[in-house]
Amino acid sequence: MEEMKPDIAGIKAAVALLLETEPSVEELRAAKLKYLGKGGEIPSLMKRMKDLPADERPAFGKEVNELRGWAEERFSAAEKKVKAAEMQARYERERIDVTLPGKTRKKGAYHPGTLIVDELVSVFAGMGFEIYEGREIETDYYNFTALNTPKDHPARDMQDTFYLGGDFLLRTQTSAGQVHVMENKKPPIKILSPGKVYRPDDDATHSPMFSQMEGLVVDKGITLCDLKGMLDEFAKKVFGSGVKTRLRPSFFPFTEPSVEVDVSCFECGGKGCKLCKGTGWIEVLGAGMVNRAVLENCGIDPDEYTGFAFGMGIERIAMLKYGINNMKLLFEGDVRFLKQFRA
Ligand code: PHE
Repeated sequence: MEEMKPDIAGIKAAVALLLETEPSVEELRAAKLKYLGKGGEIPSLMKRMKDLPADERPAFGKEVNELRGWAEERFSAAEKKVKAAEMQARYERERIDVTLPGKTRKKGAYHPGTLIVDELVSVFAGMGFEIYEGREIETDYYNFTALNTPKDHPARDMQDTFYLGGDFLLRTQTSAGQVHVMENKKPPIKILSPGKVYRPDDDATHSPMFSQMEGLVVDKGITLCDLKGMLDEFAKKVFGSGVKTRLRPSFFPFTEPSVEVDVSCFECGGKGCKLCKGTGWIEVLGAGMVNRAVLENCGIDPDEYTGFAFGMGIERIAMLKYGINNMKLLFEGDVRFLKQFRA
């Protein structure tokens, strides 16, 4: 037994020395395995007990057990300490200052043009209109000729045009879509067509690109009264329940008769103010009964069917409704302007 004593002392000294070096969690785990694990140094000492004479075994066993107890205790104390230290270090590392102001996300807002389109679509969808999205590049035929506006027609001067070469042009009016719809669909037709249109105009109330909303209804027995009734409904929903409409005679090649539609001024109630320029009325759209020639061009029998059409400028409606005085504001995307329309 005497010759095993140095082993016991040696292991003890080695463990003590190792723990003084402040090992990490991983190093501790490895060391614990080395000394206390299955087949580790201390259990191996125990195995050597059988080499001793029987009377020495109890004393030796007691010493090795004490060593094991001591080592277990030291290891677990060291483990506790190093875990606490690591936890503390992690707290330091991950410390957050809850008093710092939060990062706020900027809230977007719908563009006034989008608000108007959405509103118009919902008003007209409620009356049973379907949405038709036409094309922005058109041929001369769809934008003008089929709409009863041949090449030499003076009405072409009303709509300066971006020509693209060949027969192509940027549509000057969503009315071009009317022809596509009537060519492809038999009455009853009831469509609403929002979209961009182009004309080389540029000032406070005109932009080379702007948006229109076209409406077209074709069926048996459609009259101007149907148009007027529908417009009354539209004006009340969009501009306010007290608003009235009136029709003034006008001219468009593709409608006959043609009308200009005014709404009573929703700002002053018709008394006369800056918005209505003292007249009590505000012009909002052009409309009329679909010209027989247009129905014929599209293969619809004008003796069987009649229809009405209307077209309005979205930006104009937005400017009127929201009191915007320069059209440029609608195209600049300035957030200081746009955020005023946040719902
Ligand atoms: N397209 C016409 C314009 O742009 C408006 C309109 C549409 C008039 C439909 C009558 C019928 O001025």
